Amino acid sequence: MEETNGTPLAEDHFGEDPCDFFDDGAIKIRVTDTDGKEHVLPAVDGWRVMEVIRDWGLPIKAECGGSCACGTCHVYVDDKWMDKLPPATDEEMDQLDLIFGVQENSRLACQILTAADIDGLEIRLAPGSEVD
Ligand code: FES
Repeated sequence: MEETNGTPLAEDHFGEDPCDFFDDGAIKIRVTDTDGKEHVLPAVDGWRVMEVIRDWGLPIKAECGGSCACGTCHVYVDDKWMDKLPPATDEEMDQLDLIFGVQENSRLACQILTAADIDGLEIRLAPGSEVD
């Protein structure tokens, strides 16, 4: 059984690799946790990236549940993906202004929707996003 900060990963919930539950054409996001381990997470089109991370059991705080009001779903987006994402809204930028550790590639995972054109998106959980 594999764990990240005490939180069981998706494969623990289902007893097998999470990718086995989706066909080969499923959107996948690659998430590096705060311990530096990469997880490949299948995703349903149109879901918030934060929801995908949370629902597969990775420890993302996401206190406000995706309403862009807490900043605890802060992630760093791999540079090669930055131009492929829709730009942050003013609301997201305002929230990013309130949290620490913000970089040029910072985004809020609850404000990124999964879609075929971001299949393979690579992100890293930022400090402050982890569950206490
Ligand atoms: S979950 Fe609160 S800002 Fe994203």
